[in-house]
Amino acid sequence: MATYRIRHCEQLSGECSIHAAKNAVLPILCAALMTKEPVTIERVPQLTDVDTLLEILAECGAGISRNGDELTLWTDEPHSPSSENLLSRMRASVLVMGPLLARTGYARVALPGGCAIGQRPIDLHIKGMQALGAQAQLTPGSVTLEGELRGGNVYLDFPSVGATENIILAACLARGSTRIENAAKEPEIIDLCSCLNDMGAKISGGGTGTIFIEGRTSLHGCTYRPIPDRIEAGTILCAAAMTEGSVLVRGIRPDHMRAVLFKLMETGVTLRESAAGLRVSGRGTNPIQVRTLAYPGFPTDMQAPMMALALKLRGTSVFLETVFENRFMHAREMARLGANIRIEDRIALVTGGRTLAGAAVSSTDLRGGAAMMLAGLAAEGETLLQDPQGHIARGYADLPAMLRSLGADVAVTDLPDISIHG
Ligand code: EPZ
Repeated sequence: MATYRIRHCEQLSGECSIHAAKNAVLPILCAALMTKEPVTIERVPQLTDVDTLLEILAECGAGISRNGDELTLWTDEPHSPSSENLLSRMRASVLVMGPLLARTGYARVALPGGCAIGQRPIDLHIKGMQALGAQAQLTPGSVTLEGELRGGNVYLDFPSVGATENIILAACLARGSTRIENAAKEPEIIDLCSCLNDMGAKISGGGTGTIFIEGRTSLHGCTYRPIPDRIEAGTILCAAAMTEGSVLVRGIRPDHMRAVLFKLMETGVTLRESAAGLRVSGRGTNPIQVRTLAYPGFPTDMQAPMMALALKLRGTSVFLETVFENRFMHAREMARLGANIRIEDRIALVTGGRTLAGAAVSSTDLRGGAAMMLAGLAAEGETLLQDPQGHIARGYADLPAMLRSLGADVAVTDLPDISIHG
C-alpha cells in the first residue's frame, strides 16, 4: 500500500540521473536462465517488478547473488516454476518461456492475466515457439510447450516487444538459423541482443524489423550494463515541462527518445543536449497531437505522462492510443482534479490550461499512477494519490525522491507491497 501527498509546484529546477531501464533489465534477467555460467547485470534499479521476477527466476532454478545494485545469476538446472500464483503476478514472467524451452525442451507457464491496460494475450509468443518446432498445449490458465527447438522463420502480425524477446531467447539455442520478420525495434530489444551476443549468441539485425539468429549449442556468462530508462527520463522531462525552471537530466540516450523529444519541443519548451545530459527549460504552452505507435513511433508508455503535461497546455490536445485497448484510465482520475478530458474509444481530447484543484485520486496502473503524481504538481493545494497495489514502485525506482530533488513537495506515507497484477 502506498499513498503519496503531492503539493502544487510552479517550478522544478536542478538535475537528476536516470536509472537503468526496467524493460531492458527484465528480459536480460530472463537471459540468465540460458547458461550455467554467471551473468552479472550492473545498475539494477530497485523496482518491485525486478523483485518479483527474481522470485520467479529462483523458482526456475536460478542462483542469485546481489552486491549493491549489481546482480549475478547462474542456472545449472532450469525448470518451470511450480507456483502459478507467482507467474501470474507480472507480465514479464512470460519471458521465462523461451529460455526454459531452449534449455530443457519443456516449459509450462501461467497465462499472464490481462492487466489494467488491456487483455495482453500471448498468442504471438506461442506462434513463435511453434515456428521453432515446439508443440503447444493450452490448459485453463497455463500453456505447456514441448519440443527440441530448430531454427525457423517467424512473421509477427504485430511487432510485439515481448514476443520478439521470447523468440530471440529461444532461437539462441535452437538447432539452425531463425529469422524474425516484423520484429519489434525498441531499444530494449537491441539491448537484449547485445547482452546475448556478449554471452556468445549470434544475433544480427536487432533494432531493425528483421532479426537473424544462428543457434548455438550453449551460451556463457557475461557482465552487462543495461541502457537507461527512456520512459523514466520522459516522465521527468514532462514534469519539468509542466513548470517553469530548468532541469538537467543526466545519463539518458536522446537517440532512444526522438519521438518524445520532438513532441516536447512542439509544446514550446527548450531542449539542449550536451555531454552532461539533456536540459529542459521553460514551460510548455502549445497543445499537441499524439498517436502512440510501436518504436520508433511515440511510445504508449509515455501517453499518460504526456497527458499530464497536456493539462497545462493552452488549448485542446489530442491523444490516439493505438497499442493498448484500455490505456486511458488515468483520465478519469485527472477529471477528479477538474481536468476536461473527453474519451471517444481510443481518442482522448484534453482541454488544457484550466485551473486544477487538489483532490484524493488513485493510481490505475504503472504509467497512469506516475501521470497522476505529475498532475498533482499542476493542481492547486494538495493531492492525495492512493496506490494500493504499488503500481508506481513497480516501474520507478524512486519517482518521489527524483521530483523532490528538483524542488517538488512529494511525500510518501506508506511503502508499497509487492504488487499483484497481470
Ligand atoms: C512491453 O510489453 C513493455 N513491457 C510495455 O511496458 C510496453 O507498453 C509494451 O512493450 C509496448 O511497447 C515490458 O517490456 C516488460 P507488446 P509487451 O507485446 O511486450 C498485443 C510499462 O509500462 N499482443 O509489444 O507485453 C498486446 O495485446 C509496460 O513499462 C498480442 O496481441 O507489449 C498489445 O496490444 C506496459 N499478442 C500490443 O500487442 C501477443 O502475443 C503490444 O504488446 C503479444 C502482444
